[in-house]
Amino acid sequence: MCGIFGMIGANAVGNTLQALKYLEYRGYDSAGVAARVGDEIHIYKSAGRIQNLERLLPKGVESNIAIGHTRWATHGAVSTENAHPFYSPNKHFAVVHNGIIENYLTLKSQLSARGAKFSSQTDSETVAHLLQSNYSGNVLGTVLATANSLVGSFAIAVTSTYDSNLYAIKNKSPLVVGVSGKCVYLCSDIRCVSHWAEKVAVTPDETVVVVGDKGVYFFDFEGKMKEVSFFTTDAAEEMEQVDGDFMLKEIYEVPTKIRLAKEGYFKDGGLNIDSETVRRFTRIYLIGCGTAYNSGLQIAAVARKLIDIDILPVIASEFIYDSYPCGTDTLALFISQSGETADTIRAAEKVRKLGGYTYAVTNTKTSQLSFVCNKVANIYAGGEFAVASTKAYNCQLVTLLLLMLDIARIRQTLDDKVYAEIVDGLDALPMAIEQILSNSYEIATIAEKVKDSSAVFYIGRTCDYPTACEGSLKLKEISYIHSEAYPAGELKHGTLALMEKGVTVVAISTDGELKEKMSSSMNEVATRGADVVSVSPYTFQDALCITLPKVHTALYGIVSVVPLQLLAYYVAKRLGRDVDKPRNLAKSVTVE
Ligand code: AGP
Repeated sequence: MCGIFGMIGANAVGNTLQALKYLEYRGYDSAGVAARVGDEIHIYKSAGRIQNLERLLPKGVESNIAIGHTRWATHGAVSTENAHPFYSPNKHFAVVHNGIIENYLTLKSQLSARGAKFSSQTDSETVAHLLQSNYSGNVLGTVLATANSLVGSFAIAVTSTYDSNLYAIKNKSPLVVGVSGKCVYLCSDIRCVSHWAEKVAVTPDETVVVVGDKGVYFFDFEGKMKEVSFFTTDAAEEMEQVDGDFMLKEIYEVPTKIRLAKEGYFKDGGLNIDSETVRRFTRIYLIGCGTAYNSGLQIAAVARKLIDIDILPVIASEFIYDSYPCGTDTLALFISQSGETADTIRAAEKVRKLGGYTYAVTNTKTSQLSFVCNKVANIYAGGEFAVASTKAYNCQLVTLLLLMLDIARIRQTLDDKVYAEIVDGLDALPMAIEQILSNSYEIATIAEKVKDSSAVFYIGRTCDYPTACEGSLKLKEISYIHSEAYPAGELKHGTLALMEKGVTVVAISTDGELKEKMSSSMNEVATRGADVVSVSPYTFQDALCITLPKVHTALYGIVSVVPLQLLAYYVAKRLGRDVDKPRNLAKSVTVE
């Protein structure tokens, strides 16, 4: 949700543009660059995609200092005037910002009372005005004074004509600093910085960063120097660019990544919580948003059969404001691909405050969420750039399942034989999923029919219901077709009224014992005119059947979602949607 970048070094404008292309997944409402050219700052910005910015940037702008921004609009419409960077009125400062300045209205009215005129509706422009109004002849002092008057979440990069340093202010929004020889980079995403930097540092909250000729320095908001350590980056964390769609590439990576998720889990030592603590737990929460929540929903359905305590999936934004019981007897797993999701981080902070044990399950081990939690498990999905999450979901399921199995073993509610069957069963999944992928043309053919549906309902029972939720979320977010998921038995309590010609029902049915019940649900919707697609190891009359390979019953969720990911992709493609960057969305949702 907004990406910022800044650099000091050769070809600063070219590299900033390149970085913005990498960061575009964080927001694609507008983009802009500010470059120090001689004694001036030149700003180029445009609403819409990076290509629009690229078209208006003059070729070969010579600059050693530049900052850039990709926007996901929060305050102010999608327009060029609301695009970052923002000048201070005297054009001696320019800023880019990711996050929300919560007290911007107060600041704005104070500045307006002193005659300030604003050119945008954003909260971010306030920072540029504040810098000018706080300027005291010393830029670091000015930046510190500004940092102290801001409330909210922010990663801000600042350039000024008063010196040749680059500055940043960081609190609660991600900011990574990278160094390679004489070049220094500031960025929202570690994978982007890894592209250039030999060493990186994750900036802690309430920090001002100064990048200059003599190196990189970190200060707290009082101006006291801080020690922040740099580490060598992992090549696997580099960002990539692909010719086709990231989403399809990422679906095709599922077999490899789930293997890595399993290997990584054991390599990292498994659960890593002492047995006494595990026995003390009386409840487990699985907390996340969107796809991450769905993976919690899925694992809760599986783990309820294996563990003797309450296991509750909860949507993070609900957990924050509701009154779920929580104390030292609570284990809360926070699931987040990015580790940046504001709702999930706030929920983790709440559990910590209440004395619960917090455990991050994330694809970004250097993320804010990881710092908030007691423990971190890496899901090893590798960079995921399509807004619609796919491989991360499958990897979350693997990691969460293994965590649950360890808990069950410690609590002695799972015997060794079942444990071994499930863990060994994981090894069969890559091949099973390869099989589905090799038949993707069948799913593409079904997509051709589904694309004209007036609405698509996804149904399933018990462990298949979470898969229905995830399939439905995938379809609606990238195709814009109205879609809902229901426990199959619930249809007759209201939703059946919506069944008619033109509606499609996708029925997931992996449990042999519930096959007949699912068959009845399919008949009920078909007799009312809906088209039915089944996703199952079994075949059903009067349904277009997507056949699943047979796997261990506890593992179906990891496999049965893959045809649904492909179905959503092909439907969206056939409707001409931008599958990687669906309207109104962004990959990282860093605001509540
Ligand atoms: C999934 O396709 C979504 N784009 C979205 O629901 C996402 O899963 C959610 O915003 C949570 O993100 P996170 O895993 O990075 O916390």
